[in-house]
Amino acid sequence: MSDNKPDKAVIQSLISEAMSAREKAYAPYSKFYVGAAVLADDGRVFQGCNVENASYPAGSCAETIAVNKAVSEGVRTIRAVAIVGGHQKGAVDDYIYPCGICRQVISEFRAPEGTMIIVARSTEDYRVYDISELLVGAFTLKE
Ligand code: THU
Repeated sequence: MSDNKPDKAVIQSLISEAMSAREKAYAPYSKFYVGAAVLADDGRVFQGCNVENASYPAGSCAETIAVNKAVSEGVRTIRAVAIVGGHQKGAVDDYIYPCGICRQVISEFRAPEGTMIIVARSTEDYRVYDISELLVGAFTLKE
């Protein structure tokens, strides 16, 4: 896990944002409801939920939607991403880790000092990683 000592209040507020995002999840096929919240370097927070489609591959993950919302509003550096999810609406029983594609999507906008990935079961029960721990040797074209 990350050695960073991020501010607990910031983490808890980001988890709450992810939980609120999760309420909007559109997941009639998997019935797996995910919420994510991105904290940008300028302090703005962007929420995302998973959005599925009858043509299954056309669906999107919560994290990717949150990142793409941020980037399309001008963000280029992400400080943290909180993620919550599970099958039961309104309840979270396990930590949900970002899928491989979402790890790559987040990594594209990682901060030089690190980008926290917070996987949470509640605002009191969470784990914090750095994206570099979850995506070792990330592919990049940046110099
Ligand atoms: N999902 C996410 O939103 N984020 C992840 O990191 C993993 C999976 C969604 C995609 C799909 O709508 C549902 O969870 C089941 O895979």
